[in-house]
Amino acid sequence: MCGIVGACAQRDVAPLLIEGLRRLEYRGYDSAGIALIKRGSGALTRTRVAGRVLDLVAALQPDLPEGGVGIAHTRWATHGLPNDLNAHPHVVADEVALVHNGIIENHHALREELTEGGYQFTSETDSEVAAALIQRYHAAGEDLLSAVQRALKSFVGAYAFAVLSAREPERIVACRRGSPLVVGIGIGEHFVASDVTALLPVTRQFIFLEEGDVVALERERIAIYDADGRPVERPVRTSELAPDAVERGGYRHFMHKEIYEQPAAVAETLEGRCVGGRVLDAALGNGAAELLDRTERLHIVACGTSYHAGMVARYWSEHYAGLPCEVEVASEFRYRSHVVPPGTLLLVISQSGETADVLAALREARQLGYFAVLAICNVPESSLVREADLTLLTRAGPEIGVASTKAFTTQLTALLLVVAALARRCGRAQQEAELVAALLKIPAALERTLALEPQIAALAERFVDRQHALFLGRGVHYPVALEGALKLKEISYIHAEAYPAGELKHGPLALVDEQMPVVAVAPHDDLLDKLLSNLEEVRARGGQLYVFADGAAQLRAQGRYTVIPVPDAPAAISPLIHTVPLQLLAYHVAVLRGTDVDKPRNLAKSVTVE
Ligand code: G6P
Repeated sequence: MCGIVGACAQRDVAPLLIEGLRRLEYRGYDSAGIALIKRGSGALTRTRVAGRVLDLVAALQPDLPEGGVGIAHTRWATHGLPNDLNAHPHVVADEVALVHNGIIENHHALREELTEGGYQFTSETDSEVAAALIQRYHAAGEDLLSAVQRALKSFVGAYAFAVLSAREPERIVACRRGSPLVVGIGIGEHFVASDVTALLPVTRQFIFLEEGDVVALERERIAIYDADGRPVERPVRTSELAPDAVERGGYRHFMHKEIYEQPAAVAETLEGRCVGGRVLDAALGNGAAELLDRTERLHIVACGTSYHAGMVARYWSEHYAGLPCEVEVASEFRYRSHVVPPGTLLLVISQSGETADVLAALREARQLGYFAVLAICNVPESSLVREADLTLLTRAGPEIGVASTKAFTTQLTALLLVVAALARRCGRAQQEAELVAALLKIPAALERTLALEPQIAALAERFVDRQHALFLGRGVHYPVALEGALKLKEISYIHAEAYPAGELKHGPLALVDEQMPVVAVAPHDDLLDKLLSNLEEVRARGGQLYVFADGAAQLRAQGRYTVIPVPDAPAAISPLIHTVPLQLLAYHVAVLRGTDVDKPRNLAKSVTVE
């Protein structure tokens, strides 16, 4: 983890490597570095710092170093503290420089072996193990490409590397296994990066490397080898992302921009997928109709916010389609025994399509008897999309804020499309038509909800000095409460917990006093009366209540009971509509607390390690 950029060009590459790192900042990181090969002398220069890309630029002043071949990195600490010595690139013997994403699981054994062989480690990272082993083979006479290929045979784990050698000053050798890596093709120059967004200012042409691929890049040449070392051709694809797709526009933070993009992102996700009150099976790809016909139950696997989307879908699946559904976090799913009844479709949800635990769960599931895997994902070129049988793409566009917002609401939209298509197969065509009608109302309802922002910004002031907050919901709105609590803790660092409101009296009520804000999601549904009784339990203990309720719920504010009216919407889409105010609340609390909203401490956007 977390971001790699490399370039071989005639021009000096430091400025474009720095720009690439800046564009990868959204993935989350805690240190940054760059290594370049000087023209003429072929000497390696390396600069690295704990901190931000801006700190790296400051360390490089007064002038960016020259050099037409270079690699750069943002690190999110996994092995060893986020300090200068553990930052990448790792340089061995002034000869080999390496940047690495992922984890080498057997690094302890390799470290011992290399130490016995006389190598002295300067960092605590698993990455330096890789640099040292490659340099050992290189020093023994192998060229950089074969030294990398040979070293890879010793590594267990998931990784992407980019490597330079002062002895081969014209090239970069890079590889991927388990962590994403793309090659960018320019005119008379070539690039490598962990994400296309890093390279959009310099090219739109990309090669998406396959698992196990190794690539040798020079200015005029690219040679790709598969995991067995055979030369291979991989297709060149043109990215449709506009270079400014990752710019903030007039917004202060990406998260704010992305909250506001939700109506358009949901409209895009629905575009061309429903006709005449029906969901087009073809939206899920070739063969979807037959696989949906065979579906008798769903198992959903995901992480983080995507997991919360899966939890909402469980209620929808059972309520609207009558299909049994189970949901599990991917990191648990992969390490337990499973009983998979016949006719079970595995549904994996991931914004990035690169989350290591989700990919591992999918691969594990291949051995378990699921008849097919359906992926809901936001990145068409991702590993998840490549490995699933069916895909329903959310069309949210790049999500840069680490705290997921538009990915969540587009995932919910996609999930409701799937549930509607399944409802028809369960003899509930009328239900499908009602769901489709509700789906089409989401963009306008989200627009109306965004208009609550001034009110919510004012409310945020009441949270700013708090240490803790409780979020309550019932039924399908319990996962909405979980998502609201997750947003608040991620970006404002206030400890927030969500509970199904009925559980309050089994524990969390003990925490309630005048200092404890309690946020409740209270739409007008069958559970409203039950929820209101739970809120009385809070009020009786002096808790501060903030209740998000649609107009039909007809709640009235009084004393320590604040009601924030949410626009009315059909019940099926209520979870989306009630999510947006909670996103805005978390956002404004974080802004007031002065945290790094788009890049919260310790978190990463795309978690490509276990
Ligand atoms: C990280 C991100 C979250 C995201 C989760 C799952 O923790 O910070 O925002 O929900 O990963 O990511 P995925 O890309 O699989 O949806």
